[in-house]
Amino acid sequence: MVEDWQHGGFGLYIHWPFCEAKCPYCDFNSHVVRKIDQSRWLRAYLGELDRVASETSDRVLNSVFFGGGTPSLMDPDVVAAILVRVRKLWRISNDFEVTLEANPGSVDAGRFVAYRAGGVNRVSMGIQALNDRDLSRLGRIHTVEEARKAFEIGRKAFDRVSFDLIYARQDQTLQDWTAELNEALSMAIDHLSLYQLTIETGTAFGDRYERGKLRGLPEDDLAADMYEATQEICASAGMDPYEVSNYAEKGSESRHNLIYWRYGDYAGVGPGAHARLTMDGQRYAIENWRMPEKWLEHAEAGNGESLRNVVPQVDQATEFLLMGLRLTEGVDLSRYRALSEVELSEDRITYLQDIGTISIDRQRLRVLPKGRMVLNSVLAELLVD
Ligand SMILES: C[S@@+](CC[C@H](N)C(=O)[O-])C[C@H]1O[C@@H](n2cnc3c(N)ncnc32)[C@H](O)[C@@H]1O
Ligand code: SF4
Repeated sequence: MVEDWQHGGFGLYIHWPFCEAKCPYCDFNSHVVRKIDQSRWLRAYLGELDRVASETSDRVLNSVFFGGGTPSLMDPDVVAAILVRVRKLWRISNDFEVTLEANPGSVDAGRFVAYRAGGVNRVSMGIQALNDRDLSRLGRIHTVEEARKAFEIGRKAFDRVSFDLIYARQDQTLQDWTAELNEALSMAIDHLSLYQLTIETGTAFGDRYERGKLRGLPEDDLAADMYEATQEICASAGMDPYEVSNYAEKGSESRHNLIYWRYGDYAGVGPGAHARLTMDGQRYAIENWRMPEKWLEHAEAGNGESLRNVVPQVDQATEFLLMGLRLTEGVDLSRYRALSEVELSEDRITYLQDIGTISIDRQRLRVLPKGRMVLNSVLAELLVD
């Protein structure tokens, strides 16, 4: 029998938890430290890879994703050594994808060529904004000119370079954003990630917001208009809105992220990395120690994991929907039924179809553009008991 995860594939996430500066909006597991002993970190990553592979080495690996933090601060030799070990531990798929996230403030040509020589074949760059005032408000360490230069270096070294922008920023009008998006599309190669600014509690922006000091954020209506315009403009430029915040030419989607959204299995190595692994007929949710030093000590002692829980089948069905409905391709309902003991409510489905937020066609349930803007309420409607 085909285990459920095989519909999505198998990937490996590696978390590098350090940045040159902490951006005020960011609640990722990222830390600024003065000195990093990269060879010590490499040994810990290699030990963890061996441990994870001892449970999964019979699989074909589809992708590796170096995320962060700022993985473009990793020594190219460290990245290369990790990839040598990965190739030793797993069989690799023909279309093996290896992505590395880069901050334009820490890019130089030699470093990028070395990443490519070490086996990286895709880069995702955090450009965030295409004007200097907003970059500085976002606390970024680079200017637009530096970001453009970094992007040029990236495209010379790699065939596949994506970049991230954050929109719905302070004082941004719909016109500002569509002009900036058109500029971004003229630079883009085949993939873009476009995120609405989220104010996360516990970040510097979160604190400022609570004190009423973060002014000029768009009202919900304007943010929704920006989202709608983003979908339309990208689609007409040939960048298919294949996921809530991701746009790509056909065939250039992030294969690694598709594993998450198609609810495949993924191993996670590094501080705070999450994993979902199916072993001996059970699916496990796994987490690693979040604080870098703590993870390092545990990894050196033989195991960086802080948690390993079985995911009950009914929760798997929910996770499958939560992830899959982010994708324009939607989900296969027969896969949902195989996981879930309860059917989705016919009444609710009919209601959501009537108001134009979902569609069902040949066993595929999809969220339509109108529903994608209110995805959380669509999911709540489908999943509530
Ligand atoms: C790990 S970072 C990418 C690489 C690198 N650290 C950088 O920032 O250049 C992941 C991406 O998440 C997005 N992001 C982080 N926090 C966000 C927030 N609060 N709202 C919207 N997007 C956010 C940014 O676009 C960022 O590029
Ligand atoms: S957005 Fe990127 S560079 Fe900024 S703190 Fe977060 S992970 Fe680091």
